[in-house]
Amino acid sequence: MAKSRNATTAKQPQNVPKNTLRKWIGRVVFVALLCAACSWLDSIKDRWYVFNPPFLHEVAKEAIAASPNDPQGMISHIMTNLTSTYPTSAKMISLNTDSSEWVFSNAGGAMGAMYIIHASITEYLIVFGTPLGTEGHTGLHTADDYFHILVGEQWAFKPGALEMERYAPGDVHFLPRGTAKQYKMHEGCFALEYARGWIPLMMPFGLADTFTSTLDIPTLYHTVRITAREMIKNLLIGKI
Ligand SMILES: *[C@@H]1O[C@H](CO)[C@@H](O)[C@H](O)[C@H]1NC(C)=O
Repeated sequence: MAKSRNATTAKQPQNVPKNTLRKWIGRVVFVALLCAACSWLDSIKDRWYVFNPPFLHEVAKEAIAASPNDPQGMISHIMTNLTSTYPTSAKMISLNTDSSEWVFSNAGGAMGAMYIIHASITEYLIVFGTPLGTEGHTGLHTADDYFHILVGEQWAFKPGALEMERYAPGDVHFLPRGTAKQYKMHEGCFALEYARGWIPLMMPFGLADTFTSTLDIPTLYHTVRITAREMIKNLLIGKI
């Protein structure tokens, strides 16, 4: 063992051309800088958070109490509350109040529709669900995800668990970043989903099924158009 290592280290300096060594030093420096940049970006992301998870949970519970089993009524309630809680000028946030802007969402094998209420570089807030039921992979994200059930139930499970987790209206299914589960919205479910972290990193998962499965280009176009429009509106008022 020791002998062969000596042999290779003794030979290498003559065999490896200088510029190969330089190239590798360059690559190592590049990766080190990339890691440093990522950990710096990770440490500053919460500077721009506007929404507060306990507050959103309260709003969701209040909406459920005000319009039980009526998702449209809940969404109206949530929008009325959010638009008065976060007036653009005071809170540096832009909300999309046009709830006719629903688009399909196909991701991780699950299918539903979503209405994007807020999208910025570090946060999004959407209503997601389907009256038909769906099942799939949550995705493995760099953002924390708070899934507030409004109607129906969401079931979830992680490898190793032999029993499912069950989330009913008024519950929050919190999925910390870096964790993934199988989930099912059995017989249909709608939820208010809030994610915080570097949102653009979630997009490849959100859009991949379009390219590998649905090829639904109009949906892709509207999803990108609405997301980009909301992110830009927010950037223009200083909301990263
Ligand atoms: C919004 O909901 C929160 C939490 O339920 C509540 O405390 C607040 O008064 C509501 N705001 C408005 C303007 O309805």
